[in-house]
Amino acid sequence: MKKGHLTRREFALGSASVALIGAVASPRSAKAAALGPDSKPAILGGPPVRTQPFPSWPTLESVDEGKVIDSLRQRKWCRLGANITTEFEGKWAQGLGAKFAIGVVNGTNALYAALNALEVGPGDEVLVPAYTFVATVNAVIQQFALPVFVDTDLKTQQMDTSKLESKITENTRCIMPVHMGGNVANLDEIKRIAAKHRLSIVEDACQAHYSEWGGKKAGSIGDVGCFSFQASKILPCGEGGAVVTSREDLYDRMHAFQNNGRDRLTGTRNGYLYQGSNLRMTEFQAALLLGQLTRFEKICKVREENAKHLTALLKQIGGVEPAGMYEQCTRNTYYVYLARYNPAAFKGLSRAAFLKAIAKEGIPMGAGYVPLNKEPFLEKTFRSRLFGRIYSDERLKRYREMNQCPANDQLAQEGLFLSQTLLIGTKQDVEQVAEAVARIQKHAVEIAKVS
Ligand SMILES: Cc1ncc(COP(=O)(O)O)c(C=O)c1O
Repeated sequence: MKKGHLTRREFALGSASVALIGAVASPRSAKAAALGPDSKPAILGGPPVRTQPFPSWPTLESVDEGKVIDSLRQRKWCRLGANITTEFEGKWAQGLGAKFAIGVVNGTNALYAALNALEVGPGDEVLVPAYTFVATVNAVIQQFALPVFVDTDLKTQQMDTSKLESKITENTRCIMPVHMGGNVANLDEIKRIAAKHRLSIVEDACQAHYSEWGGKKAGSIGDVGCFSFQASKILPCGEGGAVVTSREDLYDRMHAFQNNGRDRLTGTRNGYLYQGSNLRMTEFQAALLLGQLTRFEKICKVREENAKHLTALLKQIGGVEPAGMYEQCTRNTYYVYLARYNPAAFKGLSRAAFLKAIAKEGIPMGAGYVPLNKEPFLEKTFRSRLFGRIYSDERLKRYREMNQCPANDQLAQEGLFLSQTLLIGTKQDVEQVAEAVARIQKHAVEIAKVS
């Protein structure tokens, strides 16, 4: 990530950064808590709104320890011939309302498995949002296909489906929406366009565990859904992932792919089914996930309630605009609380200065993603020997011309990320977030002078 943007790992460590901020901030009396927005901002020498860290993540309970210890003692640490990963897969598929789930090593490899099963390969194009984590794009490149970037809907921060169809060419094979932050991309439109042009849909639901579209779970609606259980995710096990599908043909292929090409029913009795890799989830990962699942919904409810409360408070203040949801998004599980910063509501105070000031108040916020369509590593990739053998200069010229995403460029200037750890504590936690925003807004002119 660029300077001024938190890296994903730093962002995931939101609570750690708050602890750091807390350590450098001056101590604050209980009285100061009631000072409200008129009080002098911490960046100008006032007492910070918050000195306590937000809840840490991931959480650990005795149920997790019990399950992991059991998995150790079983001494079947690999899933072959064992049953913990299989148990998790059954629960995950059932919870999502899908026929099949396969545990894999991480979300990135879940995306590889999905694209491999759909035979997306050299010469193909995959439609991806410009606003996402880089793994979405890397998965396409890994197949030697071209990621074609679709601009962002500024209201929801999801792929703008009104700009999707114009990016379809004779080479397009697949649409890969990302349900950013736990919010859900416009799946009705994506499904309509995919059906019209005979394209597959891979839902990158790595940030959207149990989010819903029209009452159905995100990740269960396209041909394949991909999940990440990396440590920062709302269902974590350190590193982990899953693919989900209700199509048996894709299940067979992905199952073989994650297990070096072995047939899930006959093993190697009749030889190998397909070319494959080793993406197998370990029994420890699955054991931890089964532990985490016991309280997953409970934590989600707190997070969703707090997110609603925060949205109401921020709307009263103005200037930090929460991402909206499409009407059919019936559940947003808020892996990231997405918002946009409007400097005009802060008398021209820059986003960078706002982020610095709010960090001093003990509230960590990130600046969101950089525009991936402009990332220099893409050009390096396209000029590589391997890509040069697949794509002509003429083809790449056309490709580059398609990759303009002006709304996303704007979002990259205005985006704000609030970690889910801000939402899993108390109502007062999010009231402090709002209080810090209001305080900075009130003193924006003075803050600009010291920034
Ligand atoms: C949208 C998206 N896709 C893919 C991934 C990759 O998941 P993992 O880190 O488990 O490989 C992530 C992880 O943050 C993600 O946010």
